[in-house]
Amino acid sequence: MNNLLSLSDLSFDDIIELLDMAEDLKAKRAKGIVVETLKPKSLAMIFEKSSTRTRISFEVAMNELGGHVLNLHSRDLQLGRGETISDTAQVMSRYIHGIMARVYKHSTLEILAQFSTVPVINGLSDLEHPCQLLADLLTIREYKGTLKGLKFAWVGDGNNVCNSAILAAAITGMQMRVACPVGYGPNSDILTKAVNMGADVEVIHEPENAVENADIIYTDVWVSMGDEEEKEERLRDLWPYQINDALVSFAKESCMIMHCLPAHRGEEITSEVLTGPQSAVLNQAENRLHATKAILTRLLVPNVKV
Ligand code: CP
Ligand code: NVA
Repeated sequence: MNNLLSLSDLSFDDIIELLDMAEDLKAKRAKGIVVETLKPKSLAMIFEKSSTRTRISFEVAMNELGGHVLNLHSRDLQLGRGETISDTAQVMSRYIHGIMARVYKHSTLEILAQFSTVPVINGLSDLEHPCQLLADLLTIREYKGTLKGLKFAWVGDGNNVCNSAILAAAITGMQMRVACPVGYGPNSDILTKAVNMGADVEVIHEPENAVENADIIYTDVWVSMGDEEEKEERLRDLWPYQINDALVSFAKESCMIMHCLPAHRGEEITSEVLTGPQSAVLNQAENRLHATKAILTRLLVPNVKV
């Protein structure tokens, strides 16, 4: 594992190692034990899009691990004036020890990774959001004690987070049901990859069927960053896929409700469900910090044990 561009860069063993490390770092933080594995490493973060959780969790993770972070927006770099991604990657590699980038096009990450001599981490692209799903797997394991065999229902837009969720389910042995309108399905290459891994994954159009007996219901915004021009038709087409009390009643009573946030209350999820007793969203958000620490440690100082 030299980069983390896709969840499929990780094996089952890699995921368990990262979750164990995240759990350990979380417990140490709660006890006030300082772990400075990244002293004196520097991470550059490049943002083409907005971020709250990713930006803050990476910055706090680097600081707490003894490292340093450079918080950059692409428009402030020469990238915004036409310097190539390849030149930027090679130059940055001379200064820093890792790059995290949130980009529109996944191919931008691939070029960064190709020309960089330091690890590149996907902080969200149009195709995937692997750091989010690692935090989510940590959260699911905390709630359910296991991953294998759980019934995971994705309801709504088959977007970047959904693509990473499909791969996460495939690698960890969860059953995956995606309910989305026609035309809003997950990426077909990701689905093929998951099926080739032996995944139990199905894309259907009836939300009730997807959530029946589910252990986990997950949704995300209907208008992702970059989809703003399609807002009106998306809200219309996705309306039958709202997570509300009526839909949740088809799932197990113990079903956990997940959302990567930010949420649009009253669109993809009602306020009642988002803040209700089954909601895991704040724990997911917190776990971004612990999972990120594990990812950074594993990539930036691969031989160090915490
Ligand atoms: N879930 C997530 O990635 O949130 P941000 O867009 O705030 O980083
Ligand atoms: N699918 C959303 C996730 C935000 C964390 C987006 O890409 O905007």
